[in-house]
Amino acid sequence: MFEIKKLKGNTYYFEAFSNVGIYTHDGVSAVLVDACDHPRMVKAIDRQMNGMGLTVGTVIDTHCHIDHICGNRFFQDKYGCKLLSTKKEQGFIAFPSLESDFYYSAVDTKNSRHPFLNTEPSDTEVITEENIPEGTEIISLPGHSFDMVGVITDDSVAFLADSVLSKKTWDEYRLPFFYDVNNSITTLEKLKDIRADIYVPSHDVPTDSIAELADYNIEKLKEKKELIFDICEGKGFDRIFEEAMIKENLHLRTEKYAMYATMVRNLLHSLVVDGRIGVVLDNNRLIYEIK
Ligand SMILES: [Fe+2]
Repeated sequence: MFEIKKLKGNTYYFEAFSNVGIYTHDGVSAVLVDACDHPRMVKAIDRQMNGMGLTVGTVIDTHCHIDHICGNRFFQDKYGCKLLSTKKEQGFIAFPSLESDFYYSAVDTKNSRHPFLNTEPSDTEVITEENIPEGTEIISLPGHSFDMVGVITDDSVAFLADSVLSKKTWDEYRLPFFYDVNNSITTLEKLKDIRADIYVPSHDVPTDSIAELADYNIEKLKEKKELIFDICEGKGFDRIFEEAMIKENLHLRTEKYAMYATMVRNLLHSLVVDGRIGVVLDNNRLIYEIK
């Protein structure tokens, strides 16, 4: 862990809690796919890249979550490199506090343990046909975040960001975060058609075959939708949330509450979009009903 490993040709990755893709077209300047989950990791990858004679030319942020953008400012300040993201992810990267506002409405975020307080803002350019680094291809992977992307290098290595999570992550978190559940399922189906020699999820080991893990994630997301569907009839959000946590045997600390609450809302939303449930207002209480 925490070291750069060769994948194929000129494509490497830094193995960490959030893997970082590294590709160099000319052996001097590197394209990073994401920018680490912690300042200590940023220093470690930078030191190891320098040992390989590499500097950073471009960072492609797959999405705005803090565990993918931690080194943006460091790399830009040190190398004057380009930062790239999609337009929808750009806003949260420029104003990381928006992320805390998004998840933590009506929950105190002035807690120093709160990770969003420790992210430095950074300005990305929006990805276009013209600024995509040579030797890389951008693939759209919406669902887990607003408009997430992955990157395929010309060594046939596909960095898949958080579109597909490890079995360990599912076991540990039970209800890991997906912004748009239905879109995530569509993206997971699409992953099975992406042809590459090596696939690298952000939070799992590289693999030469992604179909089985993609199917596992699809199955899990559908299972979580059914869990919420089975308990939601005639209830308001707080009751549904409480029952979902009991079913998943989760006992949350305050700083974890908002992420899980958002995920339960996202699951409810996916069922509303499917037309399987609807909402009624009963004395100013929003109640979910099976249609
Ligand atoms: Fe993420």
